[in-house]
Amino acid sequence: MEQLKGLILSGGKGTRLRPITYTSAKQLVPVANKPVLFYGIEAMAAAGVREVGIIIAPETGDEIRSLTGDGSRFGVQISYIEQDAPLGLAHAVLTAESFLASSPFVMYLGDNLLQGGITELVAEFREHEPEALILLTPVPDPENYGVAELDAQGAVARLVEKPKKPATDLALVGVYMFTPRIHDAARAIAPSGRGELEITDAIQWLVDETHRVESHVVRGWWKDTGRLDDMLEANRLILETVERRVDGELVDAQIHGRVIVEGGARLERSTVRGPAIIGAGAVLRDAYVGPYTAVGPGCVIEQAEVEHSILLEGSSVRGLQGRMESSLLGKNVTISRDQRQPRAYRFMVGDNSEIGIL
Ligand code: DAU
Repeated sequence: MEQLKGLILSGGKGTRLRPITYTSAKQLVPVANKPVLFYGIEAMAAAGVREVGIIIAPETGDEIRSLTGDGSRFGVQISYIEQDAPLGLAHAVLTAESFLASSPFVMYLGDNLLQGGITELVAEFREHEPEALILLTPVPDPENYGVAELDAQGAVARLVEKPKKPATDLALVGVYMFTPRIHDAARAIAPSGRGELEITDAIQWLVDETHRVESHVVRGWWKDTGRLDDMLEANRLILETVERRVDGELVDAQIHGRVIVEGGARLERSTVRGPAIIGAGAVLRDAYVGPYTAVGPGCVIEQAEVEHSILLEGSSVRGLQGRMESSLLGKNVTISRDQRQPRAYRFMVGDNSEIGIL
């Protein structure tokens, strides 16, 4: 088989992660202080893929391009491919057709995280040479995904995108392997009810045309980080794997368990209970940071407690009385409390923000 190319889908709108996605691409939201997208690129590099195309949207493409670069730091060569509008995953494949040419390829949704990477799958694809290899995993809410039905022999019989009444609980994971035959399939299908050219329908077309479509049930965990709870869960799962490393400065501070403190961070009279990561230049003063928290570069936490949360670059949390938990703060967000009377809440919050006072 020819050398495999990589295609990462990093366009789309990210409506389910608003307001964060008003100003930034959802694929750049950090998990354990690293953009989700980078995990996909690293998985491709580890599997021996050298040429990677990244689909970008006109609105967020520049940010993705400038943060990700030419790929040299990942050991791959990246080409950026602009998709005019988010018209579906199969539309993205067609948009990338001149980049992909006649190569087989692995397609990775830029907001997906797959434990264990893709090396084994690439090997399986090369060995069996089907027209498509899809990944499946049982989920509790299959109606939110593409859903697969297998026949008695375990072959793929039917695929339906976000069915109201799912026939099985087997969701399509956002990593696919294809031969160039998928271009014919993408051209043959019509837009779905939500107006998108669905990759699910394109794969169904391959099945209908009696092309060989194989499936593989993933063993490790998989996360689609499209929603807040999934994002926090992905952050938790990745932080579970970090090793302790303290490069920052500790002044009367305590660290328990697997914690990364990046260089230039300063912890004063504070406690961090891992797994957690404190980004470069962050300051913790009289603070507590609990498990599954990723504090971005340059953040400040002062006289406050934060747990199971993601704080993006430059945010600050000061003087909270209770503990902040299960939260996602965008860049340069400020949350503070002062002692003045009368007591009141004062907010300046962007569109579609969510504030929960428990
Ligand atoms: O996460 C797995 C699911 O991903 C599968 O189970 C579904 O079958 C599949 O359709 C897809 O569903 P989503 O609704 O989660 O797809 P989403 O719109 O979030 O797009 C996935 C990624 O692809 C995301 O990083 C944005 C990007 N994208 C999306 C569209 C629609 C593009 O680059 N271009 C597009 O036109």
